[in-house]
Amino acid sequence: MRLLEDKVAVVMGAGSIAAGWGNGKATAVTFARAGAAVVCVDVNLEAAEETAAIVTGEGGRAIAMRADVTSSDDVAAVFAVVASEYGRLDVLDNNVGIGTLGGVVETSRADWDRVLAVNVKSAYLAMQAALPLLRGAGGGSVVNISSVTSLRHSGIPYISYAASKAALNELTRVSAARYARDRIRVNAVVPGLMKTPMIAAQAGVVDAYASGDVDEMWRRRARQVPMGRMGDAWDVANAVLFLAGPESCHVSGVELVVDGGMTLCWPSGEDAV
Ligand SMILES: NC(=O)c1ccc[n+]([C@@H]2O[C@H](COP(=O)([O-])OP(=O)(O)OC[C@H]3O[C@@H](n4cnc5c(N)ncnc54)[C@H](O)[C@@H]3O)[C@@H](O)[C@H]2O)c1
Repeated sequence: MRLLEDKVAVVMGAGSIAAGWGNGKATAVTFARAGAAVVCVDVNLEAAEETAAIVTGEGGRAIAMRADVTSSDDVAAVFAVVASEYGRLDVLDNNVGIGTLGGVVETSRADWDRVLAVNVKSAYLAMQAALPLLRGAGGGSVVNISSVTSLRHSGIPYISYAASKAALNELTRVSAARYARDRIRVNAVVPGLMKTPMIAAQAGVVDAYASGDVDEMWRRRARQVPMGRMGDAWDVANAVLFLAGPESCHVSGVELVVDGGMTLCWPSGEDAV
């Protein structure tokens, strides 16, 4: 179904940190398959261009842009291009997120500041720049990509990441209430344990899970999910598409958990890390 026909969507973090399908990359392609023109934004221009090339290779519409989501100038430039190229905006997907391992004691102040800036300030900056365009289009949808670590302790120390994603949830709820009269919906997708390139690429994560054994980490993560498998980037993308499109027109301020039932019983006995 072409749920986003004639719509314009921006995906922040539309590349993938390594080869394969990250959540933002899959979401950009899913949006385009649903009919949207997609602005693929990434701090890594090559990664954004790769995603845009996949879209145009399938006959879809996409452009690539480089921007650091923590820079207000970069973010403003993105939406200036959206305005000049398309004259409207319907969907904003705030997908960029990073994590560093550590509890309060081990986390450096620099890491804390960086994670909060990339994961929360980014969404504030993007929404601030996007809202006039969304309003101008008569309304629209913002989807913020959170994490189940915002809801439960994951068993591994991820304090800055968890705190940033919890803040993102509240930014989502308060903004949903504030902009409902403008017909701008603001929701969060809350992924659980997904099998994406970012997990294996993040420093220290494979060690924390399985002493450096990537395959054992995947098995261990799969065992933590009641459905017996991790999700993937397409599971996230499909949830984002639902919240971006007309089928969720009466849904705002929710956290849509996409985790195979994990937060119902996580951490679960001996499989908990
Ligand atoms: N993979 C999982 O298991 C999982 C679970 C829960 C939540 N999430 C969330 O999903 C989202 C992203 O997933 P992904 O697989 O697309 O990640 P990813 O690491 O592949 O990142 C996507 C892109 O973001 C870009 N990026 C990083 N910092 C940036 C910055 N400062 N400015 C602009 N772009 C930047 C990277 O270059 C990359 O191409 C994150 O918010 C993450 O917290 C993932």
